[in-house]
Amino acid sequence: MNLSIQLAPSHQQGLMLANPVMTASGTFGYGTEHSHLFDIQRLGAIVCTGSTLEPRGGNPKPRLAETAGGLLNSIGLQNIGVNAVIEEKAPIWAGWRVPVIVNIAGETIDGYARLAGRLDGVAGISGLEVNISCPNMKAGGAEFGANPDSAAEVIAAVKKATSLPILVKLTPNTSDIAKVAVAVAEAGADAISLINTLRGMAIDITQRRPLLGNISGGLSGPAIKPVALYMVYEVAGVVDLPIIGCGGISTASDALEFIMAGASAIQVGTTGFINPRAPLDVLEGIEQFMEKEGIEDINELISAARG
Ligand SMILES: Cc1cc2nc3c(=O)[nH]c(=O)nc-3n(C[C@H](O)[C@H](O)[C@H](O)COP(=O)(O)O)c2cc1C
Repeated sequence: MNLSIQLAPSHQQGLMLANPVMTASGTFGYGTEHSHLFDIQRLGAIVCTGSTLEPRGGNPKPRLAETAGGLLNSIGLQNIGVNAVIEEKAPIWAGWRVPVIVNIAGETIDGYARLAGRLDGVAGISGLEVNISCPNMKAGGAEFGANPDSAAEVIAAVKKATSLPILVKLTPNTSDIAKVAVAVAEAGADAISLINTLRGMAIDITQRRPLLGNISGGLSGPAIKPVALYMVYEVAGVVDLPIIGCGGISTASDALEFIMAGASAIQVGTTGFINPRAPLDVLEGIEQFMEKEGIEDINELISAARG
């Protein structure tokens, strides 16, 4: 059976994955934390926690709240900073078979470009995933990815600064995700990941206060799966790039839905907090499905549900 996927077909080096199962940024640390739990080398790729130019302590607590079928988080990009990623993590990743993709988050367009430039050519890093859900401080805090023009500006700047394959992680918090997808494709993206979390909140009725220290947070988990699935379907219809589906994927059948909607690969996120082995379980479930259905190549399933 062939499960391998090319995620950056137009890129010089390309980004070949042994299979389509990836981890979702912010839910799998730097991969190192999970290596004792299962054979993480069997995964298609690991996407590490969002990295910023400087280390960040994150948002005020509480930062997590469970909801019906979902999880609200306002972690606020707590991370060790890009220099520590390069010095402490990349040398470990360089010895791994599984490709590691670094998720980056900037506060300005120049900040994104500087991050991309720092990570360019570092051994152990196979690609970048650009998180454009971050607030654009120069434009009153609206997410870069909420608008096709600002999203494209970020990707054009990142592309100039790196020779690595570029995945762009789209936000669902926009009125027209398809337009943003087209704009980032034209700006030089190699692949598109979607979706990031949906903005939401919860209130502590005893305290009569917002439950999260940051007031709002991002909703993830099974509750967002139908939204994410439709966005993947929509975006796959308008861009000619590999799509990486993400949002509420807990089982192999969830993953197969995304693949049939048009995703070439998928990411497993929140469900890993319940079952840390979930990414491997999803992979094994896909393999079993293919065996049962007599499918020899995963490519036969990509977009299978499209007309
Ligand atoms: C605790 C937590 C931290 C996250 N951190 C990041 C991040 O740093 N960068 C990013 O692009 N997405 C981040 N995400 C979003 C996930 O990668 C994913 O897009 C989202 O959770 C939807 O997938 P899921 O429902 O499978 O979790 C985070 C999600 C959670 C729950």
